[in-house]
Amino acid sequence: MIDARVVIGELQAMRDEGHLSDALIRRAVRSLHSGDERFDWVGAYLLDVEASELWLHNYVGQRTDHVKIPVGQGVCGTAVAQGANLNVPDVGEFDGYLACSSEVKSELVVLVRAGTDIFGQIDIDSHQPAAFDSQDEVAIQMIADKLAEQIAHERR
Ligand code: SME
Repeated sequence: MIDARVVIGELQAMRDEGHLSDALIRRAVRSLHSGDERFDWVGAYLLDVEASELWLHNYVGQRTDHVKIPVGQGVCGTAVAQGANLNVPDVGEFDGYLACSSEVKSELVVLVRAGTDIFGQIDIDSHQPAAFDSQDEVAIQMIADKLAEQIAHERR
């Protein structure tokens, strides 16, 4: 289980050194991937509001075809359309699921947001069925909120 406080401490130290969100997002993805063996693929998507599309920012794991995902499509795009995190215990049961690899069994999407402003999301795939619980979601949300703090600061 990932210790969100450690990752948030790393991210805050980077902010204190003057790093921008681009570096923080990359660090968060790497720390999540290396911090938990259930997290087989970890990536960050950023929302292009005008195009209504998610763009893959960076990832660790198998190559994916889903570099751009329209809002409303797949688990990722549905989370944005609904304005809510999505924990999918069985991706085979999700209508419109966009498969990265046949090994993936479950997926967790946590939004990076400041209030109603959605900046993007952290997307995690696991080869284990029903890999994620509400504690994982809380931990990842804390990390996502730290990223949102920096993104909001840069967009001001
Ligand atoms: N499974 C996602 C697509 C992204 S890949 O998992 C990297 C979806 O259904 O939106």
